[in-house]
Amino acid sequence: MTLTLKVWRQRNAHATGRFVEYQANDVIPDMSFLEMLDVVNEDLTDRGEDPIAFDSDCREGICGMCSLMINGVAHGGQRGTATCQLHMRHFKDGDTIAIEPWRARAFPVIKDLVVDRIAFDRIIEAGGFVSVSTGGTPDGNAIPIPKDDQELAMDAASCIGCGACVAACKNASAMLFVSAKISHLGLLPQGKVEKNRRVLSMVKSMDEAGFGGCTVTGSCEAVCPKEISLDFIAQMNRDYLKALLKRE
Ligand code: SF4
Ligand code: FES
Repeated sequence: MTLTLKVWRQRNAHATGRFVEYQANDVIPDMSFLEMLDVVNEDLTDRGEDPIAFDSDCREGICGMCSLMINGVAHGGQRGTATCQLHMRHFKDGDTIAIEPWRARAFPVIKDLVVDRIAFDRIIEAGGFVSVSTGGTPDGNAIPIPKDDQELAMDAASCIGCGACVAACKNASAMLFVSAKISHLGLLPQGKVEKNRRVLSMVKSMDEAGFGGCTVTGSCEAVCPKEISLDFIAQMNRDYLKALLKRE
């Protein structure tokens, strides 16, 4: 396959970016999207040009590092799929593909397709943990947890912190991410103890980072590679209100 790529190139956070056109030759349909970019970068390096900067780590949908807008859709639009799991067989020979970084005030571009997602780390620092003593593994296994709660908590815990939900949202809201992180701890007995403090401080950190509010368009859920449900946002709103009332 031969593809035309329109790639966002931006030297650094302060430079003005622009789309630059590249030809991707000899693309094998079984390559992942990132492997295709690796090949383009090898060509650029051979020609003495600056390779395209993009984030990746695990390349198996686990770490949440890959973060590309592909033809205007976060992670490329294949349901439940991160960019690193998207294969070139989903494109046709001769296609033109636009590749951009996440766009959100809270995720400034560092270089080309790489954005700074430290705002997510700050939200986790604000409360995405359990600090009470939970004992050892046998203690954890000894606490009965209703099956529904257990499964919901595991669904929420599958969030990989990629930020696609923010990139897809017209308000650049991080509420799907934050609600998943709040729910995966708050649904389990070990995390319930700090539930009120957690929701108040994580939401405060989210607001301070400059993320927008949720207007329930559902665009976040549609692009989420882990198919995190909007229901978690509704749960977070209820938890937040209860915690506020309790604090008052
Ligand atoms: S909720 Fe989904 S899209 Fe948002 S950070 Fe988590 S895995 Fe990524
Ligand atoms: S590179 Fe780890 S999830 Fe894509």
